[in-house]
Amino acid sequence: MKALAVFPSSREVRLIDQPEPMIAGPTEVKLRILEAGICGTDREITSFQYGTPPVNSPHLIIGHEALGEVIEVGSGVTGLAPGDLAVLTVRRPCPHDRCGPCRKGRQDFCITGDFTERGIKGAHGYMTEFVVDDERYVVKVPKELREVAVLIEPLTVAEKAAEQGRVLVQRLPGDLKNDPSSLSAVVLGAGPIGLLGAMKLVDGKWNTYVYSRGKADSPNVRIVSAMGARFVSSEEHPPADLVKMVGNISLVYEATGAAKISFDVLSVLGVNGVFLFTGVPGVMAPVEIDAEQIMRNLVLNNQVICGTVNAGRASFEEGVQDLVSFMRRFPAAVRALITARVALDDARDAVLSRGGIKSVITVA
Ligand code: BGC
Ligand code: ZN
Repeated sequence: MKALAVFPSSREVRLIDQPEPMIAGPTEVKLRILEAGICGTDREITSFQYGTPPVNSPHLIIGHEALGEVIEVGSGVTGLAPGDLAVLTVRRPCPHDRCGPCRKGRQDFCITGDFTERGIKGAHGYMTEFVVDDERYVVKVPKELREVAVLIEPLTVAEKAAEQGRVLVQRLPGDLKNDPSSLSAVVLGAGPIGLLGAMKLVDGKWNTYVYSRGKADSPNVRIVSAMGARFVSSEEHPPADLVKMVGNISLVYEATGAAKISFDVLSVLGVNGVFLFTGVPGVMAPVEIDAEQIMRNLVLNNQVICGTVNAGRASFEEGVQDLVSFMRRFPAAVRALITARVALDDARDAVLSRGGIKSVITVA
């Protein structure tokens, strides 16, 4: 079968021919990959800044955002059957007994660092024709989501952040746990992670603002309006203006991976506010931030900063439900997130080029 692989030692990215994987245990599931999304992480891996091949392999098959069709199941599989649509989780547990999170299926909180991530770190990914994995990493998707289900993995970034946000709200005294409809949230960034996060917030009744570079007539900004959020251009308005436009900023969902703008917005976070970081910046020169202002606000305004990496199985299941809800409320906005579909034969060029919102490799 064909697969798109990166060879870090020779700095090559190319299609390779791989043996098809076979079911080897009773709880395994074999999927035919239908689509695989391309994200910033794939671009970092194919520019050799990130990513690690499996032990003893010179190459890594990339791709971690996949929709597949179940074609075969082991004798012990109970929740999936041939013909089902399904998405795959990314992180796999470390082998150490002392790692409580991994032993409990929460490898997104692994304490040893020896977890693997399919398509990213130490395990082959999904930009290929067939994949086999244990059923606990395979999440069933209703047929009605066929055309957009490839967005579930990036949506789990927002789902995991929401899980963390729900816990952080619990620190507030009982009668201060406000209904979100009286609160305002700011999403930083209007790429796929930002737009999917904004959809989650709008669907959860937050007054939602998306703060990003970009012109009012860009496709990203049209999606912001179509879902019922408001766009504020960071090119026209510095962070101080955000407070004038938004009022008290109770929540910031960061989806830029850019430290400077994120910490500048942190300095205008509101009273009792929560700031959720999801972006992974590259290794760059130090940036200047107003640390005294930020520290003063953190203390005097009871603020919380939380970093979050996706995601446990529950976030994938919540993502499936939320995507159904988004498709009922604003289907055109969801569909508009996918701006290109490219065949696996052309995947290399698609991964190495930029532009659009979300490009998807169509495998079958
Ligand atoms: C993936 C996550 C992964 C992270 C860091 C993201 O693109 O969606 O599953 O943990 O990269 O490797
Ligand atoms: Zn990704």
